[in-house]
Amino acid sequence: MGVATTTIARLFLLPLLIAVHGNRALRCDEGPLERREEQANIVLTGTVGKLYGDPAGGKYMCEVEVKRVFKGRGDVLNLLEGPQHNTIMIGGFGNPALCHSDVRERDTRIFLLAKDGKSLSLNSSLVRMTLNNLKHSEAAVEAPMQNSVDDECKCN
Ligand SMILES: *[C@@H]1O[C@H](CO)[C@@H](O)[C@H](O)[C@H]1NC(C)=O
Repeated sequence: MGVATTTIARLFLLPLLIAVHGNRALRCDEGPLERREEQANIVLTGTVGKLYGDPAGGKYMCEVEVKRVFKGRGDVLNLLEGPQHNTIMIGGFGNPALCHSDVRERDTRIFLLAKDGKSLSLNSSLVRMTLNNLKHSEAAVEAPMQNSVDDECKCN
């Protein structure tokens, strides 16, 4: 009977632990995506290239290959660089004030950016490329987009 009780306890405890863990992520929420997109100067999807700086501890910068621009198209066009003229430099990764600000090479994300002169930095947490998140981002579009509808979620 002791064993059965333990088994039952585990069966109930496991989902509970998962729920609690999920709640922690919820508490980290920075607010609705729409509001964060209004606040950002630039909203785009892109794939992370080279990392510059100290990803192990401090803040760092990344070269990001731009895929689709939802907001701030003109600014992005002005800031494109690299041999293919399709990358931008973004700073502010590893920011402890943001819930999700860490990436690895080849991560594809929705980036919400602040523009200060010619430099771009994360204005709020990185957003995963789910269909739902993309729909919300499309709502932030200022002008009709003519970009390719490339990569559906290569990330997870
Ligand atoms: C994001 O942008 C808002 C409005 O421009 C600003 O007040 C806020 O400090 C920015 N946050 C970060 C992390 O840059």
